[in-house]
Amino acid sequence: MIDEARVRAQFPLLKRELHGKPIVYLDSAASSLQPQRVLDAMTNYYEHSHANVHRGVYGTAEEATNLYEGARRAVGSLIGAKHSPQEIVFTKNTTESINLFVGSWGGANLGPGDVVVLSIMEHHANIVPWLVLQERLGFEIRWIQIDAQGELILEDLDTVLAGAKVLSITAMSNVLGTINPIAELAQAAHRHGAIIHVDGAQSVPHLSVDVVDLDIDLMSFSSHKMLGPTGIGVLWARRELLTSMPPFLTGGGMILDVRTDGFIPADGPARFEAGTPPIAEAVGLAEAARFLEELGLEEVRAHEEALTAYALDRLFEAFGDDLVVHGPRNPDRRGGVISFTLGDVHAHDIAQILDSHAVCVRPGHHCAKPLMRHLGVPATARASFGIYNTQADADALVEALRDATKLFA
Ligand code: ALA
Repeated sequence: MIDEARVRAQFPLLKRELHGKPIVYLDSAASSLQPQRVLDAMTNYYEHSHANVHRGVYGTAEEATNLYEGARRAVGSLIGAKHSPQEIVFTKNTTESINLFVGSWGGANLGPGDVVVLSIMEHHANIVPWLVLQERLGFEIRWIQIDAQGELILEDLDTVLAGAKVLSITAMSNVLGTINPIAELAQAAHRHGAIIHVDGAQSVPHLSVDVVDLDIDLMSFSSHKMLGPTGIGVLWARRELLTSMPPFLTGGGMILDVRTDGFIPADGPARFEAGTPPIAEAVGLAEAARFLEELGLEEVRAHEEALTAYALDRLFEAFGDDLVVHGPRNPDRRGGVISFTLGDVHAHDIAQILDSHAVCVRPGHHCAKPLMRHLGVPATARASFGIYNTQADADALVEALRDATKLFA
């Protein structure tokens, strides 16, 4: 069981007030908060060990290199990577990880007649890079659709996957909260000779994810959604696959040799990490990964699932038919992301009124416009939970929403 008071005490931002009221942070799907130990690890690195990595031979340069390389092991351990130091590439964020995969693997492997499969619930980060490459290479994109509960329609999956080279899909929707059956999707993709890339931005921070058990090929995720700092993300890829991929960004640090007429790229993750990498951020991310592992992702999930169930019950109790929550009603099938519309009140107005109660939610299209079009709404308000949220936060959301409905009655 998660000790709520102990966990909350470790997040300094929760001590602040907004508009004279204690902050109620319900925007973890956009970015999570950081525990003090993550901030301390980064400060300690800057105060004691900062130097560039993979270059100097002096003491602090070696310390910095060891911390940076050690971060790959901490992250690999969290997601069950088999060969973690060689399979973990550090990027800027999930978006850059997906661009790396699409640009590098896609650029080398796709062409006219090939098929890429996405789902309609993808974030723009897992759509736009494919559209850009499609313009250049002319392959086909097929879309897995969703049902009225916001779950993938998988009855015709074999038809959709026939002839596909890659399935690229989110493990958990940032709008619907839907948890997708990744192991089943991986099996199906492999049966058709396709590889599977998973957008793990919303799942890695909240679910127990084991890339070997899931039998997936690649996964992208961000540090700042999993209690780490901004500015660093991860592309995990099976070692053989990573070895076969050409460089993406180029320059210093990603080469074995450079001549005036060509270059030989480095092996392993370094091939994809041109320039000085986010060293302090890797140190912070490693600490966040250790924090999550110590809490236990099963415990994290249990806490967030119970909280989501509680919040949904309270919301429907309070607002009945005026409330539309997108995504599965069953908390078992979804993460702690609650996107909703309430009567005729615009999502931005809801968010503004909630802000006056110090309740932080995100309004808008959530970078998932194809999904919003499918749902037939221009925007939703979205409350999203992290490990530090409690039933009191859900109660505060309900009370602030009552105020919104009064104001717009
Ligand atoms: N992808 C993030 C979100 O859903 C930013 O809010």
